[in-house]
Amino acid sequence: MKSQKIRFIAVACFIMMIVSVEAIADDAEKVIQITAKRFVYSPNDITVKKGMPVVLEFTSLDRLHGFSCPGLGIRSDIPPQKVTRLRFVPQKTGTFPFHCDNFCGSGHEGMTGTITVTE
Ligand code: CUA
Repeated sequence: MKSQKIRFIAVACFIMMIVSVEAIADDAEKVIQITAKRFVYSPNDITVKKGMPVVLEFTSLDRLHGFSCPGLGIRSDIPPQKVTRLRFVPQKTGTFPFHCDNFCGSGHEGMTGTITVTE
């Protein structure tokens, strides 16, 4: 009887530990790595949660690109040979197009993607 009680307490503690670790993980920034090259972002379809901090980590595989998402009010240059971090907290839900805003050659106009912000 006593060992059953101890086992129950141990299991309860274990479950509480898992729940609290998940709660901490939820509060942390979500890091999304994105590569840019003529004329694609990968991934180019990003989903994030409203109110949750996001860090976009860009790496250009060839030359200078840009990243502009007017609907969310964020932009950055993406120079080659380095990681460019762009932090933001989405404040509204919806689907917001982004595009390259540094001319990078014939095909530049098609260098696009979307960020979807969910509740
Ligand atoms: Cu990449 Cu313009």
